[in-house]
Amino acid sequence: MERERVPANLAELNDIIVAAKPMVHGGHKAVLGEGPIGAPLAFVGEQPGDQEDRQGRPFVGPAGRLLDQALEAAGVERTSTYVTNAVKHFKYEQRGKRRIHQKPTVGEVKHYRWWLIKELEFVHPHLVVALGATAALALTGTTVTIGRARGPAQFGPFRGYITVHPSSLLRQTDEHSRAVAYAAFVRDLRNAAELAA
Ligand code: URA
Repeated sequence: MERERVPANLAELNDIIVAAKPMVHGGHKAVLGEGPIGAPLAFVGEQPGDQEDRQGRPFVGPAGRLLDQALEAAGVERTSTYVTNAVKHFKYEQRGKRRIHQKPTVGEVKHYRWWLIKELEFVHPHLVVALGATAALALTGTTVTIGRARGPAQFGPFRGYITVHPSSLLRQTDEHSRAVAYAAFVRDLRNAAELAA
């Protein structure tokens, strides 16, 4: 992680991220955040997955499709938001042809934190939404239980909001639990959008 060269803007930061060696085992390409500078809402996920690594864009796989659907249901235009990840590389283990997602360690998340905070300083959103525990760890610097911390939060200088990661909805085993979890997620996105307005 490059810390000596202090970037003057988001483009310079992104150049540093692209040139740096991954801090996690797996993906070699950094997946950068995307969206307009000054976006009212910034979403922070965990790390790119298989599809994100292949396409070079955040939240374009199954979790991304669910996020898109929930944003639409909440009346939020994704292109008006900024979307990024706590960890900029896909951490995985190769098993045969499959690349199996590996959760980043606390130490790895903290290593990537400097980039994330700089990135958010440049984007300067009204509200930062942590999607899940890894994002909440990166933004607060401490381990967070989503069930207890869910809702409005403060991430250092940034007004924040903590909610679940969309992939947690995909892990619900029955249809009823999934529908309840999805409705609560959409409610969170609506609340966050109101706070950011
Ligand atoms: N999960 C994440 O946390 N981020 C992505 O970009 C995709 C899936």
